[in-house]
Amino acid sequence: MLRPMRRMLRQVAGRTSLHMPATGGRAPFRGFHAYRWDTTELPITDDLYHPTGAIAQAEALLAARADAGASLMLSGGSTAGIHAMFLYAAKRGQPVILPRNVHVSALSICATAGLVPIFAEPSFTKDGRLYTTAEAYARALDAHPDAPCAFALHVDYEGLVSDLAAIAQAVHSRGKLLLCDEAHGAYFNWREDIPNAGACGADLYVQSAHKTLPALTAGAWLHASRQVDASRLRSMLRMTQTSSPSFLTLLSLDEARAWMDARGSRALGRMGLLLERFREQAARLGYADGQCDPPRGLRYDRLRLVLCAPEGGALLAKRLADLRVDVEMSDTAHIVCIVPINGAKGALRRLLRALRSTARMRNTQDQSALRHLESVPLPMRPTVWPTRRLPLHEAAFAETEPVTPAASAGRISGVTVGPYPPGIAWLTAGDEITQEIAMLLAQTPPERLFGLDQAGMIPCVKLKAE
Ligand SMILES: Cc1ncc(COP(=O)(O)O)c(C=O)c1O
Repeated sequence: MLRPMRRMLRQVAGRTSLHMPATGGRAPFRGFHAYRWDTTELPITDDLYHPTGAIAQAEALLAARADAGASLMLSGGSTAGIHAMFLYAAKRGQPVILPRNVHVSALSICATAGLVPIFAEPSFTKDGRLYTTAEAYARALDAHPDAPCAFALHVDYEGLVSDLAAIAQAVHSRGKLLLCDEAHGAYFNWREDIPNAGACGADLYVQSAHKTLPALTAGAWLHASRQVDASRLRSMLRMTQTSSPSFLTLLSLDEARAWMDARGSRALGRMGLLLERFREQAARLGYADGQCDPPRGLRYDRLRLVLCAPEGGALLAKRLADLRVDVEMSDTAHIVCIVPINGAKGALRRLLRALRSTARMRNTQDQSALRHLESVPLPMRPTVWPTRRLPLHEAAFAETEPVTPAASAGRISGVTVGPYPPGIAWLTAGDEITQEIAMLLAQTPPERLFGLDQAGMIPCVKLKAE
């Protein structure tokens, strides 16, 4: 009997998970029966799109915790929530203000809903991380007064937390709606050190519970302030999500909420202490803290673990995977780990053991053992952003032809392309591909990129015959 999925997933058990879902492989409460409890809308259950029973109650408990006007459970990840909030806030043909490091899901809804993406000018930290200031949002909104909303990122993959309160002030003083991607900050609802996006002034915001809390994959939340018409928002959600939402995912969202309400404060405090001690130990092995010197007004989420990798991020991630420790992401110089809140101690202990063994290898000059691991050069971002030649929604549905990345300079991309993770575009559909981006794409292994076709080619807008 061939059961390839089962064979694949069995290998995952027994490994150390420092990636999403942040369950660490464990349900927050015992007695979770996947097949027995998977169900649908019945007279005794409830309906996600018209909740009156348990779903309504779970959402009310969540809204109270997040201090939101309304909170909607999502079984399609933050992606579904981001799509719904743009459909709520903007109409076809309208510009929307985005940060340069916007997640690809926002660009997808711009393409399908005919919204015009306008990028606010980015700033960079000393170590090259991208963020967007309130002033940049103000300038973009002043240049596009017909934009009904701006979209901000409250925390990025590496834990850099933006100055959302200042951004909210810039957006609201111009009479616009602030939409926010807090996919990596679901646990802010329980944190005392970092307020959630709603407390900073966001009108609508999404949180991927599965990224930082013990919730199943694709479990996420969409929160709305008291000014938002929650019933209209829910009808938009119906357009972006399946009509058969997974009750298991919804259950896991409520279990994560209940577990955090009961044990969250203690668990978060303990995890913070464990992580600070871990950083000192890792630094002694040569793996320095990768979260340093945030610009004024910004800070780091210290529950996200970023380590500098002297041997290169990809090489270190590969070495750790060989030792059965899987991290969330690597780039040229770092690894990024998502530490499971309900199991942080064991996961960090196993990570430290694996780092010790890797450091020993490095220090004893046993370089050949490291060198045999295939080094995958990993993406930086372009130094010059591409110029738009066609509207996104036009190019995304235009007739295309496949072009090799190396030969793509000067062509107009028919797709949005970038590294995954983190899902940030180097190029959106309708952009002219620069020489530098063509080179970056040619140098990056195709499996690390989203947007290319199966053969690793870039679908480019077909040239018209002369
Ligand atoms: C910043 C950001 N926003 C949104 C998303 C989409 O979240 P989800 O996977 O829950 O759909 C991701 C996914 O990695 C992300 O990193």
